[in-house]
Parts: sequence; C-alpha cells; structure tokens
Amino acid sequence: MGITGMIYMVTMVFSLIVLILSSSAAKYDYLQFTQQYQPAACNSHPTPCKDPPDKLFTVHGLWPSNVNGPDPENCKVKPTPSQTIDTSLKPQLEIIWPNVFNRADHESFWQKQWDKHGTCGSPTIIDKNHYFETVIRMYITEKQNVSYILSKANINPDGRGRTRKDIEIAIRNSTNDKEPKLKCQKKKNGIIELVEVSLCSNYLGKNFINCPNKNPGSRYSCPTKDIHY
Ligand SMILES: *[C@@H]1O[C@H](CO)[C@@H](O)[C@H](O)[C@H]1NC(C)=O
Ligand SMILES: *[C@@H]1O[C@H](CO)[C@@H](O)[C@H](O)[C@H]1NC(C)=O
Repeated sequence: MGITGMIYMVTMVFSLIVLILSSSAAKYDYLQFTQQYQPAACNSHPTPCKDPPDKLFTVHGLWPSNVNGPDPENCKVKPTPSQTIDTSLKPQLEIIWPNVFNRADHESFWQKQWDKHGTCGSPTIIDKNHYFETVIRMYITEKQNVSYILSKANINPDGRGRTRKDIEIAIRNSTNDKEPKLKCQKKKNGIIELVEVSLCSNYLGKNFINCPNKNPGSRYSCPTKDIHY
C-alpha cells in the first residue's frame, strides 16, 4: 500500500470513530423548563408531603425534549471530575428546587433529574454543575420564576378559578409572547387545579419558543376555564 493509500485508510478509520462517537450522543430539539405548584404536587403524590408545601412554583426539572417522538433519557456522559454538586450552589437550589415530598432529602431529587434529563443536554449542558447553574440562571437571574411571572399579572395563589387564556396571557408577557405548556389535574372534590407550567426555549436555552403540544387531549390538559391556583 502506498502512502496515499495509508492516508486514505487512516482518514476513513478516524471518520468512522468520530461518527460512532457523535451518534452515541442523544439528540433533542428544545429545552423544557418545568415548574410545579407545590400544593398541587403534594395533592398528586401517592403519599402525603412530609412538610407543608409553600404556595410557590418551584423547579421540577430542565428537560431536553423532542418535538416528535420520545424525549431522550438517561444518557451516557463521560466521567467528569465534578461528580458531586458544588456546595456553593446548594443554598440557591434548596430554595428554587426543593424536594417537596421530603425536604430532608433534596439531593436525591436533584440527582434523579440530572441522571434522567440533564445527562441528555449535551452540548448545551456541559456537565452536572453546569446543569444546576443553568437552572439557577433561568429561575433567578432571568426571572423565569412562574410564581413571579403570574404575580406580575395579578394572578396570585388565592385558590380562585382562572381561565386558561388569562394564565397564558400572563405567562406570554414574560416569554416574548411564546406559548407555555400547562398541566392540570382533578382533585378528589372535582376541582381542577394547575399543577405544572413549562417554559420552552430553543436547543441552546437562549430564546423562548412555543411549547410543542405533544399530547393534545391528555388527561393533564387544562380546560378553558375554572383552573384553580
Ligand atoms: C419567586 O416568585 C415569588 C412570587 O413573586 C417570590 O415570592 C419568590 O421569592 C421568588 N423566588 C425566588 C427565588 O426569587
Ligand atoms: C405585561 O408586562 C408589562 C411590563 O412588565 C406590564 O406593564 C403589563 O401590565 C403586563 N400585562 C399583562 C397582561 O400581564
């Protein structure tokens, strides 16, 4: 084999390796930043919350998602030196991302969200600490706090029924007029309550986008009126 053949062979083998490595990275289309209304989350949980919930929307997770087909989960990541959560992040995470079902153990909730969702956020999410830093940036620095967004439109957690339109308009005002995703549930007494709100942004987590409605007519869809919050 001549030198040209050798170069050709090496190039082919190298390209193949790159192809294999890159195809093992899970793909996603957009990021879904989901926040849960604590009292409603407690109502939906099979066992009662150990501590009283706060009347706040706090983080459920940041989920790399696809417009069509299933969302990636439990992706393989290269081992990084930062396998433990930076202690400097914890005070803020405890406020914005509590484990409402068991406040004595926030860390297992964070770990589960990282394992299941955060690991699939490459290359936007660089590593584990960057996943948590990104959520802190969104919720605190960029004021994507849903309680705050709703309160700016005078929608406060007073248990009143609201129209879906009023809730959507209030949120659109803070998301560059992009549509959020709302999740509702029926309580035992038949009252429909707002349980989750997701804000969607592009792949890079930079610009808001309309949240794709993947399951129209799902049992979590919100009705047009009498949504209690
Ligand atoms: C989120 O917004 C609510 C309502 O304005 C506020 O009470 C809460 O302190 C905010 N949380 C953070 C971490 O800013
Ligand atoms: C939209 O936001 C602006 C600026 O924060 C505010 O003045 C206005 O009242 C808001 N409108 C609604 C419907 O929330």
